[in-house]
Amino acid sequence: MSADPQLAATLDQHGQGHLLRWWNDLDAAGRERLLREIRSIDFERLDDLLKRLVFADETSAPEPSHVRPVAVARLPRTDAERVARRHAAELGAEALAAGQVAVVVVAGGQGTRLGFEGPKGTFPIGPVSAGSLFQIHCEKILALSRRHGKTIPLYVMTSPENHEDTARFFAEHNNFGLEHVRLFVQGQMPAVDRQTGEILLAGKDHLAISPDGHGGTLAALAARTEDGGPSCLDEMRERGIRTIFYFQVDNPLVQIADPAFLGIHRQARAEVSFKVVEKIQPTEKVGVVVEVDGRPQVIEYSDLPSELAERREPEGNLELWAGSIAIHIFERSFIERIVAEAKLPFHRAIKKVSYLDASGTLVGPKEPNAVKFETFIFDALPLAERYAVVECDRAVEFEPLKNATGPDSPATVRQRMSDLFAGWLESAGAKVPRRSDGSVPFGIEISPLFALDAAELKGKIPAGMVVEGPLYLCPNGGRT
Ligand code: UD1
Repeated sequence: MSADPQLAATLDQHGQGHLLRWWNDLDAAGRERLLREIRSIDFERLDDLLKRLVFADETSAPEPSHVRPVAVARLPRTDAERVARRHAAELGAEALAAGQVAVVVVAGGQGTRLGFEGPKGTFPIGPVSAGSLFQIHCEKILALSRRHGKTIPLYVMTSPENHEDTARFFAEHNNFGLEHVRLFVQGQMPAVDRQTGEILLAGKDHLAISPDGHGGTLAALAARTEDGGPSCLDEMRERGIRTIFYFQVDNPLVQIADPAFLGIHRQARAEVSFKVVEKIQPTEKVGVVVEVDGRPQVIEYSDLPSELAERREPEGNLELWAGSIAIHIFERSFIERIVAEAKLPFHRAIKKVSYLDASGTLVGPKEPNAVKFETFIFDALPLAERYAVVECDRAVEFEPLKNATGPDSPATVRQRMSDLFAGWLESAGAKVPRRSDGSVPFGIEISPLFALDAAELKGKIPAGMVVEGPLYLCPNGGRT
């Protein structure tokens, strides 16, 4: 049987006829798989992307002279500022107690740099417990729900590639005790040959496709289920959720639904808010929040010209210091508006992607051969009428797991977690040994269900406690 002539004609018209090259070699299941993947592609949109991002170099680096620092709510330095943050935290706590806050974690990425087989959220990161990233995040949400007396629903974005594994992991762990967890799947985009624009085949019945970037979160939240059931946004509206706390699965230090952040967002009547840290060096791999011609936007680290990255204030500080740590708050109504009215722009990434050549041989390229297309969630920022950018303390809130070794690796993340928990113990009166550089010499971990923050730990540990070796404080048994 030959392929559907109409489909073949459409593919030819878009220069993608080669996708059916192996049709006659495929069995029924292979044909069905290939057709499903081909049908998921919007060829008109792909043609537009090829024209702008593959055959032309329409990247949107802003003119450096138009770029300015953005206004940021800095970390409180005076008593008055500390009082103001506490007041904001009370407002945030009210939103949590009113059940108006949901949490979205994006976990659809491929984790290529980490080189870990399963979904990144299942990585055993706890320095003593070896608990997974998902476990740590879920325990925080459970502890927060208990503190504020209201369910905080969790929405987990997966990709077609890791959805089943993620769903199995949550089921095996009974959703870590959370009352409401919903997984939702993001979209995909094909990778194309960077010279010809042809979609790459990963096998005779399979395209080289990958997740469409975390910008895909917005459309995925708004999408109905396969059987026509309510979208995540429909469900949130039904539950009275107004505000969505968004973060990436890779940062175990994230302060989920941080009341002060929620409060500042509400005080600013913001549609979207960003948490930022002061960049440690011009080349640090974080996007920077800036203003271009008076409008806020994020310039991703890979697009930041060194002239801008290096620009300094007269006192020597980086001028564009506000590094986005991919922690946001969205108003549900803002997402509903932009999903209906606008599409986030695609960015291109030039990558090495294995492909089947015309002779049917799988080629693992030595040089980047392909273009992948992704949208980024932070491109929603310029679409907001009101926004807030809030500085936080890197040591306390940001240590992402990105690489197998070196910076942002399991070793650095576990060390930072142990150092942070040691600080909590010390402020509660315990003695903890420190190396000369201030780091602790063994793993220390506190389950969010034991204490969600340093203040909660006070009074929960024995007076005069001395920590002499690895320690895990958790509710059942208290310590190990
Ligand atoms: C990202 C941000 C960067 C920010 C940094 C903070 C982008 C493009 N850049 O960089 O501005 O300063 O984090 O750590 O994101 N994900 C999906 N689906 C996708 C792609 C990614 O769910 O299609 C998720 C991943 O699971 C991960 C997160 O998004 O949780 C970040 O993706 P990653 O590719 O690691 O981004 P970075 O380059 O580290």
